[in-house]
Amino acid sequence: MNSKKIEDAINQQIKHEEHSSRIYMAMASWCEINGFRGAANFLYKQSDEERMHMLKFVHYVNDRGGYAKLSPLEVPVADFSSLKDVFEQVLKHEEFITQAINKLYELSMDEKDYTTGNFLQWYINEQIEEESTMHEILDKISLVGSDKAGMFHIDKELENLAATKVV
Ligand SMILES: [Fe+2]
Ligand SMILES: [Fe+2]
Repeated sequence: MNSKKIEDAINQQIKHEEHSSRIYMAMASWCEINGFRGAANFLYKQSDEERMHMLKFVHYVNDRGGYAKLSPLEVPVADFSSLKDVFEQVLKHEEFITQAINKLYELSMDEKDYTTGNFLQWYINEQIEEESTMHEILDKISLVGSDKAGMFHIDKELENLAATKVV
């Protein structure tokens, strides 16, 4: 790679994407044992998708003559108070990832690494989509309320969303 700074920063982003994959896996597991099968399926898929984001960075670094390296990871949170709590945390995490991608883009411009800047466009668009999906889900959760019927309805919708999601 033409800049060690960029290589290190992407390796840091690889860590974030892998951590994302693990936190969504932990959330999916919580949903599964709490009777939210649709939400669980949705989050398992989300977890796969984050792994794909990680892999895309790994190949990019290695293809450009760098060395993609993995990092130690924190243990994901495993306790949630409700489905709403789960998705609030997903949105918060996605906002953090968006910031991280933006910083990476800024660095690529500072380093005049336009190839990396171009590569990052895909992630910038992906983050717009991720945030808007999570906003939509949270809006629906607020709309239907937290009673059993409402939650059942939301879970069904998430099941449909998971079925149509292309990873
Ligand atoms: Fe991601
Ligand atoms: Fe994401």
